[in-house]
Amino acid sequence: MTDHTDTATANGSPGAPLWLLAELTYRCPLQCSYCSNPLDFAAVKQELTTDEWIDVLTQARAMGAVQLGFSGGEPLVRKDLETLVAEARRLGFYTNLITSALGLDEARIHALRDAGLDHIQISLQASDPDVAAAVAGSAKAHAKKLAMARAVKEAGYPMVLNVVLHRHNIDQLDTIIALCDDLGADAVELANCQLYGWAHLNRAGLLPSQAQLEAAEATTNRWRQRLAERDRDMRLLFVVPDYYADRPKACMGGWGSIFMTVAPDGAVLPCHSARMLPMDFPNAREHPLQEIWYDSAAFNRYRGDDWMQEPCRSCDERHKDVGGCRCQAYMLTGDPAATDPVCDLSPDHHLIEAARREAADDSRSAQALTLRNARESQVFCRT
Ligand code: SF4
Ligand code: FES
Repeated sequence: MTDHTDTATANGSPGAPLWLLAELTYRCPLQCSYCSNPLDFAAVKQELTTDEWIDVLTQARAMGAVQLGFSGGEPLVRKDLETLVAEARRLGFYTNLITSALGLDEARIHALRDAGLDHIQISLQASDPDVAAAVAGSAKAHAKKLAMARAVKEAGYPMVLNVVLHRHNIDQLDTIIALCDDLGADAVELANCQLYGWAHLNRAGLLPSQAQLEAAEATTNRWRQRLAERDRDMRLLFVVPDYYADRPKACMGGWGSIFMTVAPDGAVLPCHSARMLPMDFPNAREHPLQEIWYDSAAFNRYRGDDWMQEPCRSCDERHKDVGGCRCQAYMLTGDPAATDPVCDLSPDHHLIEAARREAADDSRSAQALTLRNARESQVFCRT
């Protein structure tokens, strides 16, 4: 194994993984139709134990990771979450809990705060309880989320709400932002649905039309102005969906560049979606993280630009967006090394244009959504 005691990139080798996403479990009490978890999540059975997670955190911190997200599935399903948060704090991570708030109560909020959790991000599905129930597959979740959002704020956390926008809730954006304001949010991520995992399966029913998107941006800007006039400090972050961009995002800041995900069973991935790609990923149960990050075939596969095809290979923008997202390229073209079709220079960009045209069809709103569930997931499990 190469010696990487210094993470400098002077010789072109990668720097440290600054961001660690710990996907503690794929279990979740909700069934969101836009979930980015893998379609075959039901095949993942053997979650890392508490001691194995502590070992992962310790190794990642020693490599230079500073930001740690606890996510899932629903991380609160894990009874050892407080133990892991305390260990992360002891190691010196800045910690963020990414949660639906299902499984949270006042006692747990205080226990997590005592353990040293820095930040909680709660997801909301909609302002309308009926839409929220239809999208998440639970009639009770919405009221619980609102109560817990208030409790998190009362406990003194900076409160970030995350609302995934799609064609079923984007027209309610005005009342969604009003609700977030009422809850006392410090920041709201208006995250247009990224089409991975279950969201990709439901693409036809989720992708908003261009007209819906433009109206939502205008609503966000009106709210920004209104908030400024009231001197109300609630940041609104509006994330444009890939399908309405002309250039792709530099996904994860580049493959194996700053971001490392450890999946519930210990698979180590460059992003949360990568396990759907036709390649093998190493496991933290079998290899040290340092070896995986610096020396594994999987993490080196799409580093640099040698792997790129035209038009990326000779494009002046290749170091800016690194050719886009490998998972999106694979989902849309079947080739993980292809130029992300979001790019209007890609020979496959017509696929994105066709999806936009389909989304302009109003009858799409009646498209049934497949809720994320274990029974359906079995269909996608590899034998
Ligand atoms: Fe980026 Fe490739 Fe498009 Fe150039 S051709 S802008 S590198 S995705
Ligand atoms: Fe996997 Fe973009 S989500 S590389």
